[in-house]
Amino acid sequence: MAVAHLVCRPLSCSKPLGNPNPAAPLLSSKPSLSFPTPSRCRSLALRVSSSAAPASVLAAEASFHHCFSKSADGYLYCEGVRVQDVMEGAERSPFYLYSKAQITRNFDAYREALEGLRSIVGYAIKANNNLKILEHLRGLGCGAVLVSGNELRLALRAGFDPTRCIFNGNGKIVEDLVLAAENGVFVNVDSEFDLENIVTAARVVGKKVPVLLRINPDVDPQVHPYVATGNKTSKFGIRNENLHWFLNAIKSYSNEIKLVGAHCHLGSTITKVDIFRDAAVLMVNYIDQIRAQGFELEYLNIGGGLGIDYYHTGTVLPAPMDLINTVRELVLSRDLTLIIEPGRSLIANTCCLVNRVTGVKTNGTKKFIVIDGSMAELIRPSLHGAYQHIELVSPSLPDAEVSTFDVVGPVCESADFLGKDRELPTPAKGAGLVVHDAGAYCMSMASTYNLKMRPPEYWVDNGSVVKIRHGETFEEFVKFFDGL
Ligand SMILES: Cc1ncc(COP(=O)(O)O)c(C=O)c1O
Repeated sequence: MAVAHLVCRPLSCSKPLGNPNPAAPLLSSKPSLSFPTPSRCRSLALRVSSSAAPASVLAAEASFHHCFSKSADGYLYCEGVRVQDVMEGAERSPFYLYSKAQITRNFDAYREALEGLRSIVGYAIKANNNLKILEHLRGLGCGAVLVSGNELRLALRAGFDPTRCIFNGNGKIVEDLVLAAENGVFVNVDSEFDLENIVTAARVVGKKVPVLLRINPDVDPQVHPYVATGNKTSKFGIRNENLHWFLNAIKSYSNEIKLVGAHCHLGSTITKVDIFRDAAVLMVNYIDQIRAQGFELEYLNIGGGLGIDYYHTGTVLPAPMDLINTVRELVLSRDLTLIIEPGRSLIANTCCLVNRVTGVKTNGTKKFIVIDGSMAELIRPSLHGAYQHIELVSPSLPDAEVSTFDVVGPVCESADFLGKDRELPTPAKGAGLVVHDAGAYCMSMASTYNLKMRPPEYWVDNGSVVKIRHGETFEEFVKFFDGL
């Protein structure tokens, strides 16, 4: 098996913000500040899953350097920066902490996998919409996958080329479609009424809209039902038995729309790449049928997101190379440009939610660690029972008893948990505790429930800690009522 290395590359430094606490050196603008260096970096060997795909199309063992690693000194580091030290300089807790270098490494894995193919990597902005992260991904070469007009506005602000953006969704409104049409964004046709709305938008703008037909492939992605999108009964896309109706309708709107491709989306957290090949086989078959009707299709958009090792067990998961290798020959055989729509696999593992322990309590047989972070900042565990790895950021006291805890927040809901039945040393009040792999669908799904204001975000960039989003404040919240 070939070896795909995710290489650590030095990055040019973006503008660090000033240190809110002059006594704490960590958030300084000087990248040359020296931080305690980990004496050992965790290095996980990732092997390919037991996919049904033939060995010849599988990529191989990759040496995976996780950006958050526990060092021999017992402290958690992010790219050489001690998380405990970041906590001491941060504006408040909880906060999100990212590794910029890990985002680059994740993108590079796609770039390498796509060599030899015409392609667009459409980063799914819904996974994480931090403007600084978007600018970075755009700079690396990403296009964007959008699901609302505001995501398009943000993509434009981040400098994305709109002709490398794709507007998805089962309920796109005309106002947002007009914005997409003005900017030359690809639009996916999701239903009969969606087609009508796209045609209306094209007429309003006076421009022909490039469209892809979103076909529901009826492939079971074998994931949680909340993140499956390509089953027969899903709310997304058109059923293949309606294909010819749509082709005729599209022909009749030849002044307003141009059919340029076919799209499908299977679901998220996918851990078996043969599912992508099953879908690609179906899709090139549809593309053959559509081309036979005289349409000049150029794009095949195979949406469906790879899972990540949320459990931190070193589980063997497919990498971008495995995904692309399963569809490469099919794409080349039809001379297509491949569009992919990764969100989670680009951003999830680049970030931790950093919290402080408020206290420890016992009720009956149950022990709780209560932290200042909650379902408001990180809802995946409450929403679909998702597991995210949890650990303390500093060595515990020698006499700290190791017990099984539920890690919970202060929100007034029994569903407010970040992790259940976690074996951890009993932490001291104020100790730092991280929830790992919080880069995707955490901050972008955060709410202000219980009037918890959305937290600030930082990234480690070349050894410096830089704020990349301000925390939201109560004062901003009450402004919504000004003058009413
Ligand atoms: C249409 C579409 N594209 C892209 C994505 C991103 O998927 P993921 O974050 O799993 O890579 C999703 C997520 O569900 C989606 O629905």
